Amino acid sequence: MATRAADTIVPDHVSPALVRDFSYFRGPEMEPTPCGRPQAALSFVHREGPAIFYAPNNTYDGRGTWVFTTAEDQRAVLNNTEVFSSNRGIFKAALGEDLPMIPLEVDPPNHMKFRALLNPLLSPKRVDAMEAGARERAVRLIESFKAKGTCEVMNDFAFPFAVGVFLQFLGVSDDRRDEFLGWANEQFHGTLEQRLNAMRTVVDFMKSLIALRRREPTDDFVSFLLAAEVEGRPLTDKEILGIAVLLFEAGLDTVAAAVGFDLYHLATHPEDQQRLRDDKALIKPAVEELFRAYSTIQMLRTAVRDFEYKGIAIKAGDLISCPTMIANRDPAEFPNPDTIDIARDNNRHTAFAYGPHRCLGSHLARRELIVGLEEFLARIPTFRLKPGSAPITYGGHVFGIENLDLSWA
Ligand code: HEM
Repeated sequence: MATRAADTIVPDHVSPALVRDFSYFRGPEMEPTPCGRPQAALSFVHREGPAIFYAPNNTYDGRGTWVFTTAEDQRAVLNNTEVFSSNRGIFKAALGEDLPMIPLEVDPPNHMKFRALLNPLLSPKRVDAMEAGARERAVRLIESFKAKGTCEVMNDFAFPFAVGVFLQFLGVSDDRRDEFLGWANEQFHGTLEQRLNAMRTVVDFMKSLIALRRREPTDDFVSFLLAAEVEGRPLTDKEILGIAVLLFEAGLDTVAAAVGFDLYHLATHPEDQQRLRDDKALIKPAVEELFRAYSTIQMLRTAVRDFEYKGIAIKAGDLISCPTMIANRDPAEFPNPDTIDIARDNNRHTAFAYGPHRCLGSHLARRELIVGLEEFLARIPTFRLKPGSAPITYGGHVFGIENLDLSWA
């Protein structure tokens, strides 16, 4: 018989000694919290152990997951794609639509043929070519609020910036930015109903974009996919749709959250802000350190067969969570992991994951953060949290910030 712990089900094969009252969704710092530090709040797991434990109520819909906390154990899961699948049928569960998000929900060896196709689209060289457009968008946004002496970072900068760069990548006109922003807001921060509606709208938009480019090809991303081949055949419309929708899911909220956490850090650590103002060359390592310390993603895998790992019995169907924000505070991997050192070297963090599903957009994301911080620091004088305001942070599948009011003289 399965047992109950903290009002949730613990399967029979899980030893009670490995059960922890832990959640990314519930409890202090994980629920919306004024001036929270959700990533730092989780680093206690390295002090208290066990390194692998079972959290009975650890998804948005209350399912249990194993939690692998060390970087070494996470690498073992993420590299073992024969046992730990990333195919979770997210769209089928949400919309009843059989739409695999490609390449995330495709396991190797099939995964590689899609990655080989997509890697050049977001290569460092491609990102170099996008930089001027991204910078222009950052400058325009910052100049629009600079004179006010205040801004709300998420709405005024982080989201419109991430959405603008994404439209640039897609080859869609900036005229549609506000429409996209609305969908992104609902999709990532709305009620369940709003989220589902926004997902449907994005799918419909991508379908119409594919139909349009089929009729009138240009030199954009969708036209590239329509002309591309895998294993000597063209991609199907469903495959193209799965790729385009995944990029929307993967490339907006993540970038906006990172911009938010970085500016939150700099607003509350004036000494780091000043160091970056004094030495622009520090921005690059600082962005890496802030990716490490304020990582936002927890990856989920499903065991496809029974498996024993370090003496722990994992059963087919079990969910395994690999939180980047916890691996990135692993003392075996980083000296003084809870100290944020913007000049940290040898910073081999896992904010963009390990293994075959390593983030396809990491070069673009890094560049967006560097360009965004460079322009913000160059144009906005010393900033701090707006007096009387308190940014609300939250946990979940992607950690983030709801609002961040800044002010400057
Ligand atoms: C700060 C920003 C970002 C962070 C922290 C981030 C992080 C990650 C992580 C941790 C994964 C692995 C997910 C898993 O294995 O379950 C991932 C995968 C992915 N990311 Fe990102 N990402 C960011 C931005 C982007 C951007 C800008 C794009 C594209 C425009 C993008 C596209 C993707 C894609 C397509 C995958 C799936 C790769 C595969 O399955 O082979 N990401 N990302």
